[in-house]
Amino acid sequence: MEFHVKSGSPEKQRSACIVIGVFEPRKLSGVGEQLDQVSDGYISNILRRGDLEGKPGQVLLLHNVPNTLCDRVLLIGCGKERDFGEAQYKKVITKAIATLNDTGSMEAVCFLSELNVRGRDTHWKVKHAVETTEASLYTFDQLKSKTDTARRPLRKLVFNVTTRRDLTIGEQAIAEGLAVAEGVRFARDLANMPPNICHPTYLAEQSQALAEKHDKVECEVLEESDMLELGMGAFMAVAQGSAQPAKLIVLKYNGGEADAAPITFVGKGLTFDSGGISIKPSEAMDEMKYDMGGAAGVLGSFLSVVQLNLPINLVVAVAAAENMPGGHACRPGDVVTSMSGQTIEILNTDAEGRLVLCDTLSYIEKYNPDVVIDVATLTGACVIALGAHATGLLSNHNPLAHDLLNAGETADDRAWRLPLWEEYQEQLSTNFADMANIGGRPAGTITAACFLSRFTKKYQWAHLDIAGTAWRGGKDKGATGRPVPMLTQYVIDRVNSKASKD
Ligand code: BES
Ligand code: MN
Ligand code: ZN
Repeated sequence: MEFHVKSGSPEKQRSACIVIGVFEPRKLSGVGEQLDQVSDGYISNILRRGDLEGKPGQVLLLHNVPNTLCDRVLLIGCGKERDFGEAQYKKVITKAIATLNDTGSMEAVCFLSELNVRGRDTHWKVKHAVETTEASLYTFDQLKSKTDTARRPLRKLVFNVTTRRDLTIGEQAIAEGLAVAEGVRFARDLANMPPNICHPTYLAEQSQALAEKHDKVECEVLEESDMLELGMGAFMAVAQGSAQPAKLIVLKYNGGEADAAPITFVGKGLTFDSGGISIKPSEAMDEMKYDMGGAAGVLGSFLSVVQLNLPINLVVAVAAAENMPGGHACRPGDVVTSMSGQTIEILNTDAEGRLVLCDTLSYIEKYNPDVVIDVATLTGACVIALGAHATGLLSNHNPLAHDLLNAGETADDRAWRLPLWEEYQEQLSTNFADMANIGGRPAGTITAACFLSRFTKKYQWAHLDIAGTAWRGGKDKGATGRPVPMLTQYVIDRVNSKASKD
């Protein structure tokens, strides 16, 4: 889709359609009133007859509005003006896009970007309009034998801004929105891909392809033999039950000074998690193809950052493996030695994410990272605690945690912090090794993070548990692309705060 910004009056737009907001009850937005005046009350007349109250989600398509140059005017209900916030704004944009796509307007001028969204400026509104548009048009139909595409799909969208001064801001916002949208799409495609196609080798190939396309990007893939040599006994315990070879994938983006410490993202890449010998119940087990959502999230964020050509160094490490039962699989009771030298008693083979992550977190020490953020669909307990709206955040460094929470607010991809207090560590004690890989039912998300914290003492670290946010279940089942918006925003914020200090 093509996006542009423009600053002009509604009646002068030569377009297939212009999109105008209407608040409840029957209250035209500023531009709407302007249009109503030039059309001698044509629109307000129609509203008075009761065709559109302005309730959220209502739409009314008008043709041949007098004294205008456009073919159609699309009125969109925006709800009560004083309730109009971020969520409503995004819903209204989504509704407008769906209607335009259905009604044969291949291009449109959208005035919704001029509506007041509490506490948000033009940059935010245009950026999120782009992200929302791209997200709402997303489909995963690669694997269908027949696809139904719209007859005359929307191709070009112009956002109107209030003043000419907003034009450069709007263009920058479009670039950012498109970069985030591209990272989100990449993450969703990877995560939605079925586990017979998307195995660790596939993730490695996708990463290598990404490196080939961009000259500041390098990719390195560690094989099982390399991991054995490095002493990654925890990672290998998970990998050994599967016929699919595990991979530790490293992507490097060199956008900053050669000696600048990199921001580092680590992703859990279980392309399928059957639970292993501690096998999961079969209901909804297909959803465990999404257990590489962390990998998809960090790869998508990587792509967004590369797209924006940001002046920083970024390293992404993906722990890719498949967790399967079988004659070679690890068993409950096995004790393994991690790369750090710490020993682990595997009491439940379904707590595999922390096992692949702990060795990866040790491995990336060699990059002398500035900060490390790992992303993982780590615990069912996080779904119980926070549901589908907030990502779980745990960290050993308060400023890093705050930066991530703020980035999540700006990106509308929010996280909520849980404590990582020393008291919880006890739950990992065992008589037979340095630690167990499970901490019992209470505070499952916290004890999982406690486990990881034993491998991240050498750097500033945050953990994002995306078990509840990486995909939606039910009728609209599918990957969300979270936390690409949050992580990309985090990097953008870092670049901006550095620029303002220099
Ligand atoms: N990938 C799962 C976590 C998960 C479960 C994410 C459901 C999303 C929905 C993880 O590997 C796992 O199985 N965790 C166990 C840990 C337990 C055995 C301590 C869990 O959460 O049940
Ligand atoms: Mn598991
Ligand atoms: Zn898992």
